[in-house]
Amino acid sequence: MDEAFTLKGTGCRSVYDVIRKYKSQLRGKPSEWVLPKGNGHGEVLLREVILKAQNKWDFPYKEEELCHCRMVPTEVVDRIVKLGTDHVEEVARKTTAGTGCGTCRPITEEIIKYRKGA
Ligand code: FES
Repeated sequence: MDEAFTLKGTGCRSVYDVIRKYKSQLRGKPSEWVLPKGNGHGEVLLREVILKAQNKWDFPYKEEELCHCRMVPTEVVDRIVKLGTDHVEEVARKTTAGTGCGTCRPITEEIIKYRKGA
């Protein structure tokens, strides 16, 4: 199923700027929508919306808790990445995820790569 529809939504200034930039390409069938390039907050969020509309969203980690040593939820790490953090060390400083045994750091790296479109 690939019905045509128009994307509508709300968000911060950077999201609006990105949507405005890509607006002409966000009409019709989602399968034809082009993924925005760039690692800014707006591009990261718009990529998620488009991939979900295309049924291609495949977040790399499905568990609720990412860091078991520090009990940091996956959602907390993902939120920091969506807001622009793109280094594992920086995620660790901001969330404490990865500051124990370190086995969750590759997962954080995967989330960063996925969110940044790498
Ligand atoms: S599981 Fe994250 S530091 Fe150990």
